[in-house]
Amino acid sequence: MALTIGVDVGGTKIAAGVVDESGEILAKTRVPTPADPQWAVDAIAQGVRELKEQYPDVSAVGVGAPGFVDRDRSTVLMAPNIAWENEPLKQRIEELTGLPTVVENDANCAAWAEFRFGAAAAFDDMVLITVGTGIGGGIVLDGRLHRGRFGVAGEIGHLNMVPDGLDCGCGGHGCWEQYGSGRALRRYGRERAAADPIAGKRMLELNDGVAETIRGIHITEAAEEGDPLALSCYRTLADWLGRGMADLAALFDPEVFVLGGGVSDSGHLLLDPVAASFGAYLTGGPARPRANVVLASMGSAAGIAGAADLARI
Ligand code: BGC
Ligand code: NA
Ligand code: ZN
Repeated sequence: MALTIGVDVGGTKIAAGVVDESGEILAKTRVPTPADPQWAVDAIAQGVRELKEQYPDVSAVGVGAPGFVDRDRSTVLMAPNIAWENEPLKQRIEELTGLPTVVENDANCAAWAEFRFGAAAAFDDMVLITVGTGIGGGIVLDGRLHRGRFGVAGEIGHLNMVPDGLDCGCGGHGCWEQYGSGRALRRYGRERAAADPIAGKRMLELNDGVAETIRGIHITEAAEEGDPLALSCYRTLADWLGRGMADLAALFDPEVFVLGGGVSDSGHLLLDPVAASFGAYLTGGPARPRANVVLASMGSAAGIAGAADLARI
């Protein structure tokens, strides 16, 4: 059975795995993402070499990178949340590992994995949204990954949602990921707890009384307990997500939206208000068929399995 290596390059960690044709991960490594972008390249290669020693038969490498990847699946043109610009990642990893390599967008990889092996296996038209540090997107139309003419078709995190809005890592302003990502959720928690420490009591308690460093886990824990302010942060996040999804439905008319990324680990806390918001913003009235909204099912394995599978085709 043909084995390939998939690599998921995240803002905090680089995870790699040997994957078989059914999407099963047979072996795994992970290292923290080095701050220096060139060391990050070395760390990817190091992970690949380690896995290749255990599985000498691996035939190719797929690298899922958190940025704009060119149509040749070679170069990271720009990465909003990691300092790569025109990074010739395919060439570098091939030089350092001796294995044929393709570079893909991280969310395209996750979408492909959910489509082939996970939550969207029963559908032909899907949009995956990863809600993490930023917002990533992967679009599968008629069973095929939609890359666009220049390779960057799924860059939904940078939909221009707010005229002259918040600065974004892409150089733009008002991008969707400034309002609907895990980082945005964190900001809502920090701002609201600071503005109203009485209402923010529970979130503050969970972070030793400090509003400025509240993290997603504190907001999630408080929201799970029913804390009204934490729930309001989730509602705001969900409102933005549903709004953007209604626009994506106008463009792509998918049968299913899959919610992935770290924030989707909170399950129904995210899913329910997002599905409600999507329904509220969707245009066309009750006669319009409405896409399903579901949670991703593969968790952190999706990036690895999708990258490995896309390395085969
Ligand atoms: C990047 C995408 C990436 C997403 C999730 C966005 O800021 O533009 O390329 O897929 O973050 O990592
Ligand atoms: Na994408
Ligand atoms: Zn942006």
